[in-house]
Amino acid sequence: MLTDVKIAKLREDFPVLSEQVNGHPLVYFDNAATSQRPKAVIDAMNHFYFHDNANVHRGIHALSERATHDYELARSKVQQFIGAADASEIIFTRGTTESINLVAQTYGKATLKAGDEILISHMEHHANIVPWQMLCEQTGALLKIIPINHAGELVLDNITTLIHARTKIVALTHVSNSLGTINDISSIIQQAHAVGAKVLIDGAQAVPHMSVSVRALDCDFYCFSGHKLYGPTGIGILYGKAELLKHMPPYQGGGSMIKTVSFEKTTYQDSPYRFEAGTPAIAEAIGLGAAIDYVNHIGLDVMAAHEHALLDYATTQILTIPGLTIIGQAAHKASILSFIMDGIHPHDISTIVDKYGVAIRAGHHCTMPTMVFYQVAATARASFAFYNTFKEVDIFVDALKNAREIFS
Ligand code: ALA
Repeated sequence: MLTDVKIAKLREDFPVLSEQVNGHPLVYFDNAATSQRPKAVIDAMNHFYFHDNANVHRGIHALSERATHDYELARSKVQQFIGAADASEIIFTRGTTESINLVAQTYGKATLKAGDEILISHMEHHANIVPWQMLCEQTGALLKIIPINHAGELVLDNITTLIHARTKIVALTHVSNSLGTINDISSIIQQAHAVGAKVLIDGAQAVPHMSVSVRALDCDFYCFSGHKLYGPTGIGILYGKAELLKHMPPYQGGGSMIKTVSFEKTTYQDSPYRFEAGTPAIAEAIGLGAAIDYVNHIGLDVMAAHEHALLDYATTQILTIPGLTIIGQAAHKASILSFIMDGIHPHDISTIVDKYGVAIRAGHHCTMPTMVFYQVAATARASFAFYNTFKEVDIFVDALKNAREIFS
């Protein structure tokens, strides 16, 4: 359990949490957009630049060997973190968005034909909609949508009418970034496999809040970003089953991804290098490895239990504010609290609480179809991390009450 004393100590690991904003101590509730970085991550990246900086997989010199060792060690840490069978199944990308685009433009483009179907849900982030729409335009495949109910849960009653022989790819979010819903992806993965479809899971909002085993889930692809997991920006992960990666064409051409090049014919490396053209984000990969060490040290289950308690407390507290409606009330939620207030635009809510040092996000959260479903243009969204406190929730709720007064 994370006691107040323990959290106070852990907060010291995050330099930015000591910032003052508008004359108040920062209350950082925008963790779903990007979390903060502990010193361990910043130090690991600095250490690389101070002592080991060189390119990977290239030079036969000591620094290059050190850089390559650290980069590949980071890959192994990711492999263990998500329970993949082999490090070759872990591809470094720029983030979740690039991971999804990679699958769409390699596996998708190589295998789909006109009339095939790609199934997503009504609660997807644009990053798990647009790449599939682009693929549909290229191949003549059709995009199908799993509906949601008002609580913000997938409606699976008629799922057999959506998952059938023509379904080739199912691409689903593990945790909704705008509603907080935790989806029961295991059953959908099984149903998709029963008709021969492959399943990609967008885990960007899941991996910071729950243990994920890609082998237990049996998903074909799993994607996440470093910066939501206390790691750096510019680095993300695509996990793919070895058997699928083996037959996938490259994503981008360039250095590192080839075995031989001639003007007549080029041959390609095996995974993961086939999908990592050019100089990769070396320091960022090392930083992500340090973030995983940090998370493992505290324990995801311990972090998640505290975040859940914060979510429950914040949910109860904000519902005491007149005219406030929570958007997304699924039975199973991660630490995301989206809401609207009668007569106050979400941007104004965000601006007012910012005056009290509270950082939340307001907007459509890159989920415009979800906003349309709820008939709102935007929501305000607070999202919690393990380093947040109940006292911070109280500050946030008081700031919302002030917003209510200003607009009443
Ligand atoms: N996708 C990120 C969010 O939900 C940026 O805020």
